[in-house]
Amino acid sequence: MAKTLLLLGGRSDIGKACAHRFAAAGFDIILAARGSDDLDIAVGDLEIRHGVKAYKAEFEAAAYETHAEFYESLPAKPDVVLYSIGSLGNQKVSEENWTEAEKVISSNYTGAVSILSVVANDMANRNEGTIIGISSVAGERGRMSNYIYGSAKAGLTTFLAGLRHRLASTNVRVITVKPGFVATKMTADMDLPKILTASPEHVAEAVFSAYRRKKSTVYSLGIWRQIMFAVRLVPEKLFVRTKL
Ligand SMILES: NC(=O)c1ccc[n+]([C@@H]2O[C@H](COP(=O)([O-])OP(=O)(O)OC[C@H]3O[C@@H](n4cnc5c(N)ncnc54)[C@H](OP(=O)(O)O)[C@@H]3O)[C@@H](O)[C@H]2O)c1
Repeated sequence: MAKTLLLLGGRSDIGKACAHRFAAAGFDIILAARGSDDLDIAVGDLEIRHGVKAYKAEFEAAAYETHAEFYESLPAKPDVVLYSIGSLGNQKVSEENWTEAEKVISSNYTGAVSILSVVANDMANRNEGTIIGISSVAGERGRMSNYIYGSAKAGLTTFLAGLRHRLASTNVRVITVKPGFVATKMTADMDLPKILTASPEHVAEAVFSAYRRKKSTVYSLGIWRQIMFAVRLVPEKLFVRTKL
């Protein structure tokens, strides 16, 4: 029987590239997104291109009270769950406006904790499955330019690490993905340095390879591992003088 990937963030550019990579390997796909009515074309595209079954489902990360029922009503219990939801928000607006900050926190962190706890409990009972979370290098050090987003990603990274620890003695695996810059609609209005910017397809290949090779953490591009190592080393007294 074919395995199933549940993509939380069915319209995410990185998520869609991952869905195609897993579908190319024979996975059936469930695309879950808010306002999922317009996903029929994406579902059809997956089925025609890869000869797999694909479905759509309605999912809002901030509607925590719906998450258990959402998971129960899926057409199949997923073998792999990929959380690829998030919003950058506007740091300056978030500093003054809790509604903006809360959107960033719920999409990147609390929504993930809520749904992935439901998923983890089910996978622990079945003693199988893989949970993959798209976090970010932004979670590795708080910076004035994006610390609401960065702190939510730090929370997600720590949550995934804890889940991995909890499930280490089972057959359930947890993978943390830490992309640097990726050329998607999230970053479309940013002027990104080409050499440090991955395509969604590149991230998808890294995610699929991490899944196959049972890795726990993956950076994309790899150079970001060195960059963030250096960024973490800068003493706080010097760091606060930068404009990063
Ligand atoms: N692009 C980068 O440079 C980069 C770098 C590091 C990490 N990441 C992370 O990678 C993941 C995917 O991002 P992306 O680059 O593929 O950007 P994207 O195409 O903008 O995808 C983000 C998705 O999150 C969904 N979303 C936001 N809030 C939601 C909510 N409350 N409920 C349900 N869905 C919600 C959006 O849905 P709608 O379509 O309905 O708006 C959108 O499809 C995110 O977690 C992001 O933080 C991205």
